[in-house]
Amino acid sequence: MSGSPDVGYYVGNIASIPRLQIPALKMQDAAQGFRPTEPNTGGTTTAYPCMLALASTWDEDLVNLVAAAIGTEFKGKGANVILGPSVNVHRVAAGGRNFEYLSGEDPHLGFRLTAAYVKGVQEQGVMAVAKHFAFNEQETHRMTMDAKASERTAMELYFAPFRGAVSAGVGSFMCAYNKVNGTYSCQNAELLKKDLRGLMDFQGFVMSDWLATHTPDALAAGMDQEQPGIIQLPLGAKSAVLTDKELNKVDKHIREAAASHVLTAVYRMGLDREPGCTPPNCTQELVSDQTKATTRGQRHEEIAFHAAASSVVLMKNNGLLPLTKDKVRRIAVLGEAAVDETHRTYVGKGSGYVQPDSSAKTPLAAIEERAAKENIEIIRPDSHTPEEAKSLGGTVDAIIVVVGVDASEGSDRTSLDLGHKSDHLVKAAASKAPTIVLLQIPGAVLMPWKGEVGAIAGIFMGGVATGAAWASVLFGDKLPTGRLPLMMPETINDTIQIGENREVDYSEGLLTSYRSPSFKAAFPFGHGLTYTTFEFSGAQQTREGCQAAACVEVTVTNSGKTAGEEVVQAYLHFPEPSGGDEKWVKSTPAKVLKGFHRTQELKPGQTETVLFNFAPEDFTLFSSERGWVEQSKVTVHLGASSEDIRQSLPVEPLS
Ligand code: BGC
Repeated sequence: MSGSPDVGYYVGNIASIPRLQIPALKMQDAAQGFRPTEPNTGGTTTAYPCMLALASTWDEDLVNLVAAAIGTEFKGKGANVILGPSVNVHRVAAGGRNFEYLSGEDPHLGFRLTAAYVKGVQEQGVMAVAKHFAFNEQETHRMTMDAKASERTAMELYFAPFRGAVSAGVGSFMCAYNKVNGTYSCQNAELLKKDLRGLMDFQGFVMSDWLATHTPDALAAGMDQEQPGIIQLPLGAKSAVLTDKELNKVDKHIREAAASHVLTAVYRMGLDREPGCTPPNCTQELVSDQTKATTRGQRHEEIAFHAAASSVVLMKNNGLLPLTKDKVRRIAVLGEAAVDETHRTYVGKGSGYVQPDSSAKTPLAAIEERAAKENIEIIRPDSHTPEEAKSLGGTVDAIIVVVGVDASEGSDRTSLDLGHKSDHLVKAAASKAPTIVLLQIPGAVLMPWKGEVGAIAGIFMGGVATGAAWASVLFGDKLPTGRLPLMMPETINDTIQIGENREVDYSEGLLTSYRSPSFKAAFPFGHGLTYTTFEFSGAQQTREGCQAAACVEVTVTNSGKTAGEEVVQAYLHFPEPSGGDEKWVKSTPAKVLKGFHRTQELKPGQTETVLFNFAPEDFTLFSSERGWVEQSKVTVHLGASSEDIRQSLPVEPLS
């Protein structure tokens, strides 16, 4: 459905108009890098970590760098539009496309990382497309599902990353397949005109998702471009809603507005200045090898490795890690994901797919190579069965079990389990030796054995450098820096379930993830260990010199024995929310993330004072009657995760 129509073309193609010097638009997916749709293009681009892995870096500079590198590869491939970033805030834990979404479960994280990504890509002269607008939070009934959500839920939770894209000057938006409050997204004037162009002040153009245009009325409702336009379907039929005949029936002003939205974005982005190849004469660019490219002086291979390693989240560590000769001499590495040659647990499937190049090392190979330098012996098992794990008892000092699950666009995951085989393998290993579990996952998973193992770390589909990332973090070459961009639930009941009906009621409103008072976390949102510990002290509101609505500072001290970085998180609590009725007050979360700051790498004993500048909007809540309502009573919680709050203080917004 979304393949390129012919050789030399891209997933999306808008022909150039040479007479008017209007360049062709050459659009390609997206999530982990340039998608190989042309014959002989597999492995010619860098397979970066997925968007959710980028979210777990909690690092705007790094996200910006990866986006810039992706932009460089797009240029090299002759494309000038990337069908990304995909930024929807997760709602259901088993969402099939969660791995593709840069916001994880949080609007503030999503806002900031989306803005960083858009700037990185667009700096390279490649237009970004924020997708999928809006409420594209599950794959079940994805073409027809009707998301019923309140204005407040939209404003405070799901729209934030899209606002981040607009704030960064994104050129385009992609409207989603699903309906929103009864009307398809791509013909939803409320969504596209009132919210996107009106409230968010979006200046670019809106394209439909592939075959998401249902009627020519979409143009009047705010959609500007149908995708993929006229295409060859399997039985030879051609399909497009906006045929010339239909277009001629549409009011001239509406057509002109759509054209001017597209052209404004094209010229703003300067796409006319470097038009590049013209399809179908883009074959040479499309087959070119981009894996050796550099951006800002850095090799893409290095960028992909650094991003993957920075995305590793260390969830538990009883001291087993980092691995050193004095702790372990012989380690067994088990689990099918340790030898995942097909990369099913490194890259997601669907339009976000990227094929890793030949530099990809399996976790086993990478760990083996690194262990050799340490003179630590790695035992390769004959099989990956619980029996094999049990037979290792007494023969090794530790067992590393690598387990994973895959995911694909088009369907949701059927459960959050890692599967019987994997769970049994972990339990069997843990019953015989100190066990380190490495997870290669597309989103939240259940870890019923978490109390039995010594260490747990996770990478959300880490791309080509997955194996290398593991090796570097396990042996302490790279300090763990990732943080969970979602809550790892204790049980399936601690998550929002997939809506099985055509209508999906977002009745929980804002109370998803850590914002729900009833969900129990196995590992909380924002959590992530490193090889040292930090103390927080001296939190205070500073008035002098404060240019923001409120300024809060806190001192962070490395209180451990090795270097490390802390991600200080600021959660706001409104003790007496004002602006709505009792029901409205009840639906206000007890904590919302409104700031985070990554410290520099601090040596033992070293301190850093972290300053948060809160904007007036941070102290507002949305009411459908009154719009954004300023809150006068605010408590700021400063912590290392949504549940690990170290300092709290009342803060008065300065007027
Ligand atoms: C996906 C989009 C993608 C498009 C083009 C659609 O099926 O939902 O995310 O950009 O295909 O491949």
